[in-house]
Amino acid sequence: MAKYIVKKSGPLKGEVSISGAKNAVLPLMAATLLNEQECVIRSVPHLRDVQVMKEILESLGATIEEQAPGEYCIKAENIVTTEAPYELVNKMRASFLVMGPLLGRKGVARIPLPGGCAIGARPIDLHLKGFKALGAIVTIHEEGSYAYVEAAAGPQGLIGDRIYLDFPSVGATENIIMAAVLAEGTTFIENAAEEPEIVDLANFLNKMGAKIKGAGTDTIKIEGVKSLHNVRHTVIPDRIETGTFMLAAAITRGAIHIENAVPDHVKPVIAKLRECGVRIEVGDEDIIVRGDLGPLTSTDIKTLPYPGFPTDMQSPFMAFLTVCDGKSTVIETVFENRFMHVSQLNKMGASIETAGNKASVKGNARLRGSEVMATDLRAGAAMVLAGLVAEGTTEISEIYHIERGYENFIEKFAKLGANIKRVE
Ligand code: UD1
Repeated sequence: MAKYIVKKSGPLKGEVSISGAKNAVLPLMAATLLNEQECVIRSVPHLRDVQVMKEILESLGATIEEQAPGEYCIKAENIVTTEAPYELVNKMRASFLVMGPLLGRKGVARIPLPGGCAIGARPIDLHLKGFKALGAIVTIHEEGSYAYVEAAAGPQGLIGDRIYLDFPSVGATENIIMAAVLAEGTTFIENAAEEPEIVDLANFLNKMGAKIKGAGTDTIKIEGVKSLHNVRHTVIPDRIETGTFMLAAAITRGAIHIENAVPDHVKPVIAKLRECGVRIEVGDEDIIVRGDLGPLTSTDIKTLPYPGFPTDMQSPFMAFLTVCDGKSTVIETVFENRFMHVSQLNKMGASIETAGNKASVKGNARLRGSEVMATDLRAGAAMVLAGLVAEGTTEISEIYHIERGYENFIEKFAKLGANIKRVE
């Protein structure tokens, strides 16, 4: 099993360029299923999740060519099946994003639920609520250890309607937008997610001829169109990767110049780091982060849908708070069970107590190198950040999680002076 070996490193310094956003590129790739013409997507990061989505699209009949590094040409002229394979869908929750476009284009789709019905049904209820509102008949079937969602539109295809999301789910908003693009009439999504990745998806779809307004606000209007045309699009920079390198500068008391970033997308992270005493200068497309200019103090964070503090930054930020001066509180409101990294940080000498969705971080921890696990993608980044300032050596296992979502992670950290390597 591959591991990362991280040794205590000095202040990280230098420049880093941010890759295309994982959470933007996955829905963009799914959206190509709506289009018979050619879709060119640039700045596609080389990630495991992207590879999984590529294989799913290919299994459905799309052809995909990487015509230059990070430039994918995807053509879904012929959809050969409307059923996605379990072995691929099972690897990644975002696979479910192919359901909306398949249903919109072909009127039917059959997608497995990773993990089966019992735990699977609830977290996609809002996606299904949207498909049903557009007139699809949605059923869940169990087949041995798998469960599938089947959706079928009526003879006239999907028909636009008004959909209220009980929670502004990112994936449900994306799936419903994609289902509605070719539907008859107009769809409104209320209490929609406002994340930058939603805006990127709407921009991509509008460039290919869709009529979507209001992306980035809580009400999105989609007027159905008959067909779509060729498109070229560059993926937005990854705001979670941006935040991770901001924290790398902060926790190591270094100075990092982050290029190819959208400062507006990381406003809550900038605000919270400033509260902790980190100096941040913001340009049009770059951010300079200085953690070397004074004491670092505690703060409280509460995760929320965008534009609130991102849940994906919660664990890396918590790693940082363990070494700040004073007590911090972290409240997770987006996901129910997202404190798995706490036990790993405590193993490294942190003092964090949890009660429900609240964690109390004591601060001023003297972290020490340990054997820890990347319990999920962002928790893996948290372990690396902690390892950079821990005494001795930190061995991080289960790093495939990290490689699902961070492009050239080791190389980028090493270039900034981190003592980190990957071993088999
Ligand atoms: C996306 C991101 C993920 C991020 C999350 C929240 C991608 C590929 N992943 O995930 O990195 O952490 O947004 O910012 O973009 N929920 C339901 N029913 C539903 C859908 C969601 O109850 O039908 C719940 C989920 O269980 C969770 C919350 O809503 O508690 C947020 O989920 P959602 O916004 O849908 O996240 P994802 O799109 O899965």
